[in-house]
Amino acid sequence: MTPKPARKPLVAGNWKMHNNHFEAIALTQKLAFTLVDKDFSAADIAVLPPFTDLRSVQTLIEGDRLQLLWGAQDVSAHEDGAYTGEVSARMLAKLGCRFVLAGHSERRQYHHEDDALINTKVKRILERAMTPVLCVGEPLEVRQAGGYLELVLEQLDGGLDGLNAAQVAGLVVAYEPVWAIGTGEVATPQDAQEVCHAVRRRISAVHGDATAATARILYGGSVKADNMPAIMAEPDIDGALVGGASLDPGEFVGICRYRDQSTPANQR
Ligand code: PGA
Repeated sequence: MTPKPARKPLVAGNWKMHNNHFEAIALTQKLAFTLVDKDFSAADIAVLPPFTDLRSVQTLIEGDRLQLLWGAQDVSAHEDGAYTGEVSARMLAKLGCRFVLAGHSERRQYHHEDDALINTKVKRILERAMTPVLCVGEPLEVRQAGGYLELVLEQLDGGLDGLNAAQVAGLVVAYEPVWAIGTGEVATPQDAQEVCHAVRRRISAVHGDATAATARILYGGSVKADNMPAIMAEPDIDGALVGGASLDPGEFVGICRYRDQSTPANQR
């Protein structure tokens, strides 16, 4: 399998339902002041604000020619039409979104999204030439009962159903164990690697080694600047989907600069 350096790391900040459009501009500006060319050549760095912020974030990033990428946290499974409250992939593409999350655990849990719906969303995102970030991950009870690999692979198979190898090669999978999201309970790097490796092997089994070597697999769940270096040392982890810590510009930049702080804080 192609070595890890072939895949450019991705650090994506999932702002969830935080920041109105003024706050979004302020946070994006803070990131823009701090991140430099070197950061962007080392990793793709993206923010995923709420829908209402996207136009403001797009205008700022394009106007100032920043290298920051942006995207959305969800999309409608419908193309367009009478679907009150929904936002289509066509609208998101028009707003310059590069990435769109599909199947975040909060959507699965609070909005009862299943793998078939998530698969349709993935296809809508691809149709508009954006990159899906398919989120997979097991709840605590499944982790404790031991069936987590089976569940994650089922979510993966369901989410990617009907896609061809070229589509899978370009997309992003984010492994986010539900018990680690927003809890401060980060998975050990070995736990995260075990699942990310299984995801890559499954992609390889279905679409071949070359596809599996290109697709990016992220870890998400209580990622912070101080735990990022150990996570990124794992061979199958290509970046992070960051929730809470992405709202703090200093912390988020610290995560993006994980290479600079591979010495644990208590040993510096
Ligand atoms: P967290 O969230 O970093 O706050 O745990 C991650 C996510 O839900 O994407």
